[in-house]
Amino acid sequence: MKKINPHFVRKDFPMFKNEVKMQNRPLVFLDNAATTFKPFQVIEAISNYYLYETANSHRGDYDLCYNIDLKIDEARLSVANFINAQKNEIVFTSGTSMSINLIAYGYGVKYLTKDDEILITQAEHASNVLPWFKVSELTGCKVNYIPLDKNGKLEPESLKKVISKKTKIVAVAHVSNVLGYVLDLKELAKITHSVGALLVCDGAQSVPHVHTDVKDLDVDFLSFSGHKMCGPTGVGVLYAKYHLLEKMSPFMMGGGMNAKFDMCGDITYLLPPVKFEAGTQNISGILGLKAAIDYLKMIGMENIHQHEQELRKYAIKKLKENPNIIIYNEFADSGIITFNYKGIFAQDLATYLNSQGIAVRSGQHCAKVLLDYLGEFATVRVSFYLYNTFEDIDVLVNTLLKGGDFLDAYFT
Ligand code: ALA
Repeated sequence: MKKINPHFVRKDFPMFKNEVKMQNRPLVFLDNAATTFKPFQVIEAISNYYLYETANSHRGDYDLCYNIDLKIDEARLSVANFINAQKNEIVFTSGTSMSINLIAYGYGVKYLTKDDEILITQAEHASNVLPWFKVSELTGCKVNYIPLDKNGKLEPESLKKVISKKTKIVAVAHVSNVLGYVLDLKELAKITHSVGALLVCDGAQSVPHVHTDVKDLDVDFLSFSGHKMCGPTGVGVLYAKYHLLEKMSPFMMGGGMNAKFDMCGDITYLLPPVKFEAGTQNISGILGLKAAIDYLKMIGMENIHQHEQELRKYAIKKLKENPNIIIYNEFADSGIITFNYKGIFAQDLATYLNSQGIAVRSGQHCAKVLLDYLGEFATVRVSFYLYNTFEDIDVLVNTLLKGGDFLDAYFT
């Protein structure tokens, strides 16, 4: 394990040179669960495609195309290696939402019936709830909830209590985007498989932060987004065990995913993963994602996780010194901390922090039913990444210490 020097890491990220946008204050960016900054290496990979390498992929018989074909292939292999999958188990999508929709339509709608059940939790992001509601609407299956413990975490024991032969899919986030607990996926997978069901993992908040090995975890599906891991927006990944991809229907039809079709509508699909990649792909995005993975590998996922743990420990200690702060996930294990300031509405606090150059997220964080569980209408969330410093936390904590001045400062 090596200790990250975030001050040095920052030199790779042009956004940290862009202080003008934050009213001439140093930018304290604490919203990495929403999206992350991109290093030059990623921006270069994207711009090189537009400057020097533009061509479609898998469609042309000329050198520019061959070059892109090879690069897309290389990117797929790189993603596969990053999560210990096979290359043909990696489908490029637009992001986690599309990946989960692909599972819902391609597997759920095709195979589930009115007697079946999908299990999720109250802690899920909308992307891991609404597609399942759609499956329920189209097939008549039920969506039920695995109870969370008193801290809002899903423990394997709770799954054991509610899972049954009716359960066909268990869909959970490896790391909750609000409470930041890292789930014991390996154990959840064992329990899920014991009744013949499939485990769908929303990895949007985990793959960017913790080393992920799909074989070891034995998840059936894993989704994640490029932009939360130093990559571009508009590109993401669906991993699925290959035999599942073979069974699934494509969710989008069009060019690039079929081998042939005739006038009567008989279609022969190409094999997975391209069966699921209709239309011209987000080529620059895929190349940018590859560059992001190279970058994260250079720094080391274990080192990133360790850095976030240290930031978390420090932030919790400092925040707890302020009696006005209510922390909702003191004992979580990721770089996500969710809190409120007594008597101040979360969005007012976030607006005030913004006026001090601090970017945080406030509101319901797309996890609307979790907030009911917490008994709050809204919370403030900070989330760390490899370039955050202890000084970022000091700025946050000192700004919060101004306490009752918040609203005055906001309104004057
Ligand atoms: N899913 C992102 C978040 O949690 C947008 O902030």
